[in-house]
Amino acid sequence: MTVANVEKNVRQRYSEGAQTQVAELCCPVDYDPRYLEIIPAEVIERDYGCGDPSKYLEPGETVLDLGSGTGKICFIASQVVGAEGRVIGVDMTPDMLDVARRNAPLVAERAGFANVEFRRGRIQDLALDLERLEEEISAAPVDSVERLLALEERAAELRQSEPMIADDSVDVVVSNCVLNLVDSELKEQLFAEIYRVLKRGGRAVISDIVSDEEIPQALQDDPELWSGCISGALGESGFLEAFERAGFHGIRIVERQSEPWQTVAGIEFRSLTVEAFKGKEGACWERKQAVIYKGPFKEVLDDDGHRMQRGQRYAVCDKTYGLYRQQPYAGLFEFVDPLEEIALAEAEPFDCSRTVLRDPRETKGEDYEATTTGEAPCCGPEGCC
Ligand SMILES: C[S@@+](CC[C@H](N)C(=O)[O-])C[C@H]1O[C@@H](n2cnc3c(N)ncnc32)[C@H](O)[C@@H]1O
Repeated sequence: MTVANVEKNVRQRYSEGAQTQVAELCCPVDYDPRYLEIIPAEVIERDYGCGDPSKYLEPGETVLDLGSGTGKICFIASQVVGAEGRVIGVDMTPDMLDVARRNAPLVAERAGFANVEFRRGRIQDLALDLERLEEEISAAPVDSVERLLALEERAAELRQSEPMIADDSVDVVVSNCVLNLVDSELKEQLFAEIYRVLKRGGRAVISDIVSDEEIPQALQDDPELWSGCISGALGESGFLEAFERAGFHGIRIVERQSEPWQTVAGIEFRSLTVEAFKGKEGACWERKQAVIYKGPFKEVLDDDGHRMQRGQRYAVCDKTYGLYRQQPYAGLFEFVDPLEEIALAEAEPFDCSRTVLRDPRETKGEDYEATTTGEAPCCGPEGCC
């Protein structure tokens, strides 16, 4: 199948799915019933998700839902992030957007606030607002090659001057059973787009169908299986590697369906929810900080290539020191500050391409010669330990 065929089949299938429930596209998911109470039935019954990334959201966050369909995850996310947060759903299928947009005011009225909007776009090209492009076509219909070329140039300009989703603008990108539908040739671009729109420190929480074995070409060429969320699935480990290649760190499986959703020719297809963080890029500064991996594994390897053994004191740059204090690493490390703090403005560059131990003398200083008895901190009114 060509890229255009994949997209056309997917759009057709989900146009039908927007108008009436298509049972074979449904994968049972247990959403938190508290959030479903204010969501109209037509949204809930045309649910083609396979997981629940909304469980991992926090109040006040700006959330982008890729392939928002009839809007269910957006409407749940709206309630989780609350009036201080914001939710944007992106979908390329007009019939899906119609259902989502007609139900948004009802949900807003019941919630008491409006914080959800829906945009038409392709999730592998989040800078281009297809409705904005349509305005340009209405003004100057494409009836010649010249006009087609001019339209392509205008689309490139719009990506720059009026991006649908700007760089570094979103706290969390979520998606529920959509990434598999994007053509294989465009999947790398899709992960790069997720990375682009996230703020530094932001995260992706993606539920999708994955396969436990490589999918033969004959199955990949079957349009029904592709649009049915089967044959475009990435492999279980390939899904995690795609986040890694895009520059994410702290990538982890937060949920994995034990039983397959479907099995085709012996290949199992199941839902996986993965969380991945943006923010390991940037300059590395030496502030004489050290970390100690607490275990339980004998050794760990992070996404920057630092290999650390349990219990050893390693030199890290200021950036890594900060990252390890936050999720998903919080609790895994002990932190050792130097006796004399080095201000960031005075710090030297740190070579993050190697992993080295931090000698305790570097922490304390070569001149450190203190002797303490240990009495003062341990003795209290009830005696000494
Ligand atoms: C399996 S449904 C999932 C819908 C929704 N996330 C849910 O949980 O019910 C896939 C949705 O993704 C949309 N979609 C598929 N490929 C897309 C693409 N490349 N860009 C934008 N939307 C896409 C379809 O129109 C459809 O609404």
